Amino acid sequence: MTAAALQIENLSIAFGGVRAVHELSFSVAPGQVHALIGPNGAGKTTVLNCISRFYAADAGSIRYQGQELTGLPDHGVAALGIARTFQNLELFGDLSVLDNVRIARHRFQRATLLEVLLNLPRKRAEDAEHRERAEAIIESVGLSAQRHARVRDLPYGTQKLVELARAIALEPTLLLLDEPAAGMNNREIGRLGEMLLSLRERLQATLLLIEHNMSLVMGISDRVTVMHAGAKLAEGTPAQIEDNEDVVRAYLGGGRRHAQRDTAGAAL
Ligand SMILES: Nc1ncnc2c1ncn2[C@@H]1O[C@H](COP(=O)(O)OP(=O)(O)OP(=O)(O)O)[C@@H](O)[C@H]1O
Ligand SMILES: [Mg+2]
Repeated sequence: MTAAALQIENLSIAFGGVRAVHELSFSVAPGQVHALIGPNGAGKTTVLNCISRFYAADAGSIRYQGQELTGLPDHGVAALGIARTFQNLELFGDLSVLDNVRIARHRFQRATLLEVLLNLPRKRAEDAEHRERAEAIIESVGLSAQRHARVRDLPYGTQKLVELARAIALEPTLLLLDEPAAGMNNREIGRLGEMLLSLRERLQATLLLIEHNMSLVMGISDRVTVMHAGAKLAEGTPAQIEDNEDVVRAYLGGGRRHAQRDTAGAAL
């Protein structure tokens, strides 16, 4: 068996009295699309926040390619090739799509501060190269026509694609996605699924996908982990999870808000 790309062991974190995540363990194999699903408040985003070091876990271990992440600063996690998107968008709303993606490429800038201030040739050459990369990434998520639009003027589902583009700009080997399909219609979700699969090929990346839209989850995931009340409820292939009665019951008990909200259908 191949070693896991991402390995989470006995992860726990509480806020006040709330056990958001409790002794959770699961691993993600390299190059797989691994979905993390569960009803509202199950603890999915909290897991992602612990991986990207937005939160410090109370206990447990998170290893990526064998390296322990729990002691690292958040930029240390990014330097390992881990990028994420946010459930509630973290974009520069007043800037264009292109500028949002260009800013994300900042970590690849090689020019020194002096070269930047004096706008020396190396800086100009670098700018041109990054702009070209940013344009290519924007095209890969289908937003070329909107690249000069101000982000806050775009529909929510389109802003989610800008977030995806920004994460791709970091050229990650592990991509953490928090509800990328939110605000999209069925056609857009279909396109998103194809996009994520081709992205995995292009970047040779591993994807951890939090998502409520079950047609996307079941359509593109190699493996699914189901959380409920901070713990793991089930894990398996999409077919095994679809047939799992505990999973269906957990959603009926706690997932109604999403079932109503998701007009795109196919949400459990
Ligand atoms: N910063 C925080 N402070 C206090 N409580 C928090 C914090 N972050 C998360 N929680 C709590 O932890 C629990 C898990 O929340 P989390 O956002 O991880 O759920 P989720 O599975 O992502 O849900 P959803 O599907 O609605 O996004 C919830 O009870 C939530 O209120
Ligand atoms: Mg969440």
